[in-house]
Amino acid sequence: MFTGPGKRDEELAHAVEAGVRVVTVESPGELRRLARIAQARGRRQAVLLRAAVSEAARLERVRLVGDDGAGKFGMDAADLRGAAAWASASPWLELLGLHAFGASNLLDAGALAAHVESTVSAGRDLAAAAGFPLRLVDVGGGLGIPYEPHEEPLDLRVLGIRLAALAGRLASDPATAGSRVLFEPGRFLVGPAGAYVTRVVDRKRVGEDHVVILDGGIHHLLRPALVGQEHRVRALTGAAAAPGSANAQRFPVTVAGPLCSGLDVFAQAALMALPDPGDLVAVLDVGAYGATESMPFFLSHPLPPEIALRGGEAWVARPRIEPETWLDWQTEGPASR
Ligand SMILES: Cc1ncc(COP(=O)(O)O)c(C=O)c1O
Repeated sequence: MFTGPGKRDEELAHAVEAGVRVVTVESPGELRRLARIAQARGRRQAVLLRAAVSEAARLERVRLVGDDGAGKFGMDAADLRGAAAWASASPWLELLGLHAFGASNLLDAGALAAHVESTVSAGRDLAAAAGFPLRLVDVGGGLGIPYEPHEEPLDLRVLGIRLAALAGRLASDPATAGSRVLFEPGRFLVGPAGAYVTRVVDRKRVGEDHVVILDGGIHHLLRPALVGQEHRVRALTGAAAAPGSANAQRFPVTVAGPLCSGLDVFAQAALMALPDPGDLVAVLDVGAYGATESMPFFLSHPLPPEIALRGGEAWVARPRIEPETWLDWQTEGPASR
């Protein structure tokens, strides 16, 4: 599948030539470009149309957008109807259905199921209005993972019951008997598999507060600053990680990085035994939206190596990269006279 706003012509052409199963189209203009590209290659390309979803609703309940505007993704209701009619009439496009990524990191199975149900019903309405058979409804990602200590995992049993009931309703209705519902899970599959390991450089009291400064920060792991959510932090070495440390006294600790930015904080009041300078600590759940979502060049610290683990065996998947590497890419420009 090929999804995302701003697909360039070369990318669409590659997708068509490679026989990508379905292209999710984000605008009427993109739909026309894709049709031209498919026609030029004598191919018929399967497509989904992406519905705009209220940005405000992305973190909570989900609502498809009518005419009230939204973020940058997808089409509003009027454009969706026009695009569906146009795609249905095009010999170069095969319209399969609707895509709506309207939920992000949801831990509430009921809210996620409600997003799926409302997207399916919007897909059904669109198919009925434009007169095409609804074959696919893509509900995007959104299966959440617990980041903070008080959060509970998504209840898959509740989600399963709701989805099974929905599947039953789809199967018993001739208009949707051939329809499939698709998730695109991202963080749920890989988020808990990654940890960001960094070393304590300094520890101090500032007034009443305990502050721990690390040698890594938001340049390697931007997410806490980007979405305002703290990750769990664990000591890996030293007295704070020693057997029996579970009984050690815990303090609220500000855990922060070395950058000259007040945003460079992983946790404001992580409750933990105090780690010492030299200890390693792990910031958990960074297998998704970790290094690749960050801003590695900010303040020219080294890029961290990535260490992979499989079956108890560890290897360097990507080496540490020193700032000299990208500073050496810079050119000096024409010599000044
Ligand atoms: C189109 C699309 N599908 C799926 C995902 C994965 O989402 P999640 O990590 O919430 O499961 C993303 C993430 O941005 C996305 O843009």
